[in-house]
Amino acid sequence: MSFDAIVGGQWGDEGKGKIVDLLSKNVDVVARYQGGANAGHTVYLEDKKIVLHQIPTGALREDCVCVLGNGMVIDPIGILEEINKLKELNIRVNNRIYIDYFSHIVTPIHKFIDRSNEAKTNNEIGTTCKGIGPTYVDKYKRIGLRAVDLLSNSDLQDKMDKRLKFALDNNEISNEAVKDLKEEFKLFYHACDKISIYIKDTFEFLHNALKKNVLIEGAQGTLLDVDYGTYPYVTSSNCSSGGIGTGLGLPGSKLNEITGIFKAYTTRVGGGPFPTELFNEDGQTLGHIGKEFGATTGRPRRCGWFDLVAAKYSAKVNGLTSIAITKLDILNSFKTIRVCTHYDVNGKKIKNMTEALNNLDIVKPIYKEFSGWNTEIENIDNFESLPESAQEYIKYLELEIGVKISIISIGPKRHQIILRNK
Ligand code: IMP
Repeated sequence: MSFDAIVGGQWGDEGKGKIVDLLSKNVDVVARYQGGANAGHTVYLEDKKIVLHQIPTGALREDCVCVLGNGMVIDPIGILEEINKLKELNIRVNNRIYIDYFSHIVTPIHKFIDRSNEAKTNNEIGTTCKGIGPTYVDKYKRIGLRAVDLLSNSDLQDKMDKRLKFALDNNEISNEAVKDLKEEFKLFYHACDKISIYIKDTFEFLHNALKKNVLIEGAQGTLLDVDYGTYPYVTSSNCSSGGIGTGLGLPGSKLNEITGIFKAYTTRVGGGPFPTELFNEDGQTLGHIGKEFGATTGRPRRCGWFDLVAAKYSAKVNGLTSIAITKLDILNSFKTIRVCTHYDVNGKKIKNMTEALNNLDIVKPIYKEFSGWNTEIENIDNFESLPESAQEYIKYLELEIGVKISIISIGPKRHQIILRNK
């Protein structure tokens, strides 16, 4: 019996999909607690690349039940597409996908508002335009549509009519735009009808499941957390482990292991400060070799060196008990690898993230250099066989963060993984 969690340690896209897939091998339930279709979790089933946005990665493990918690914002059209994709792959979905009664619903209106807000601000935040922020705004304004409303056609229609009137009255949308969304509304109602069979009371289910093995899957990353991230360049939910209590109704006292996922370097997609961002050839090489394009939007990700200041903060915010480092193989060809140990803010050396969080756009990273290993590591299966400089790099990060690095991913395939004893 265990109740473990996996969270993104950086700005998302750390490669959580593969680690969730690995750790869900003997798990009965995988649950998500926040976010929605803004996430993109990529996993490989044999040679097939599969990207899931809302359904937890556990869906690929036959006997695993997937819970989409009340803290999530559900896009009915997108989730129906994912369900159909799983069916095409002959993956059973019946009685395996549970959408919580009280998760909030993303409608075509929310996606429209997200797109028009981005257009008005010249993509300043650079959202995924999946309607995430506007749906959470409705939740906190107490005018949101929830999954439970989809169980009655009249409730759904009534709430949608009210929401549309509110949008028109408040100039969130024009009558013209509503006409243009006619097809999307049709798809939306169709999807709402189709997904209603998956809507359940997941609270009691999860509490009963605590006698089994439960894995909690975070989306995005700690530095995108609405409270602990690089506000306002964040997503609209609590991606860090703190969101688990509110997003699934599972209190922290039940949590066992909390594993933070970190790339061996750093990436960020969308706007906002990024102290170790590289604008030189090294940055381009990381992006090119690491195939750093957003799984949801296809946008190129910004790339930079590993940021220890941010990683130490992330370990504290989440209460990490272990770490998985992903994409170590992407560093294979670098002669020199850098790690940011401190920030310089106007000549002052800073080692605590919160001291710099409001000035992150002006900090200068201070780096420690490591020699690269200049050899392929993709087929190595134990830590001691890694080149010495790669071992040194990992041991340094581990020592500095103060949390054991127990998993190292060295390629996209399921078997390209090195496990270390805790
Ligand atoms: P939103 O979540 O679509 O509102 O976008 C807010 C910010 O979070 C933007 O900078 C997005 O690029 C970023 N973001 C949202 N989801 C992800 C993700 O899964 N990975 C990385 N960045 C994300």
